Amino acid sequence: MDPVNLPRVLATHTPALFRAAVVEAASQLRAGEIVAVPTETVYGLAADARNPVAVAKIYAAKGRPVHNPVIVHVADGDLARACVASWPVTAERLARAFWPGPLTLVLPKAADIPELVTAGGPTVGVRWPRHPFMQALITECGFPLAAPSANAANQLSPTTAGHVQRSLGASVPLIVDAGPCAVGLESTVVDLTVEPPRILRPGMVTAAALHAVLGALSTDHLAEAAGPRRSPGQLPRHYAPRARLLVHRWTDSADLLAWLNARRLTAATTHVLAHTHLPSPEGWAGVSLVPCDPEAFARALYAELHRVDVLGVDAIVVEGVPEEAEWAAIADRLRRAAIEVG
Ligand code: TXA
Ligand code: MG
Repeated sequence: MDPVNLPRVLATHTPALFRAAVVEAASQLRAGEIVAVPTETVYGLAADARNPVAVAKIYAAKGRPVHNPVIVHVADGDLARACVASWPVTAERLARAFWPGPLTLVLPKAADIPELVTAGGPTVGVRWPRHPFMQALITECGFPLAAPSANAANQLSPTTAGHVQRSLGASVPLIVDAGPCAVGLESTVVDLTVEPPRILRPGMVTAAALHAVLGALSTDHLAEAAGPRRSPGQLPRHYAPRARLLVHRWTDSADLLAWLNARRLTAATTHVLAHTHLPSPEGWAGVSLVPCDPEAFARALYAELHRVDVLGVDAIVVEGVPEEAEWAAIADRLRRAAIEVG
């Protein structure tokens, strides 16, 4: 890559650097530019949500299809309510319980949210992120920030500034680096325009937690996801690394090897991500132990997939996770075993 086209990367690890990065990022955003920013879930590619010309730059940089709407980020309740045409009691309850945090509420859009943000639809996804940089940035800007995950369409979401740089490279002029994301998986998306509210994308704010606050909740999405697994070719390509990603449960190394060999894969070109049944390391391209706790697993998963993917293995085998509510978002991302179109 031509060094003059490399993005500028701003560090934030001292109060002075943090403040300087807020000021510089806000100035770029005010000028209608895009900036890659940290959130607690994954890194986002931000633009002024009220400015369709700026939002168009997000789509161009990602190669994102324009039929996929973008989430709008806010830093207080007033700004959230300014983005929507109505604020039902369900929104108030969820906002009080989970904001700031990894939860996106889909609501009827306000008139001044451009069609490009909502992909021409009548609703907008709104989220108040917990990350201190995003909060400081939105407050400094005074306007909401449209931001999808900061990866090229059909690639894995980024959880470090380095991932953003590798995926988007020269198409993003500025990246704010705040280290690895604490949650590590994209936000839960809940549609509040239907009755009962419906989970569109599971996340680390679980169905059980939402249900406890709302009383009624449709988990159609989760029920469908838990059904019989379709063949890999039929799965929507979402969240995937370049290597073939397989999910399997095994008893020991020999069992895993036999299963892989039946798929014409060899240990030497396969990396294993295990959380309970760690195979003996000999013969594999690599073996990683990921934490056996859903929150820690979520934090580690994309980082590990990014790390392994650049090593150039043919396949990554991830040990199947427990079929429990706390693991639903992780199981969802693994099941798709592919990159999100967006
Ligand atoms: O955690 C996150 O949500 C991250 C960070 C950056 O906030 N963002 C993120 O954005 O994952 P993105 O664009 O990669 O995924 C947004 C998801 C997509 O599946 C999109 O279709 C859905 O949210 N979405 C956004 N607005 C919507 C709307 N109005 N109606 C239905 N779905 C919507
Ligand atoms: Mg995405």
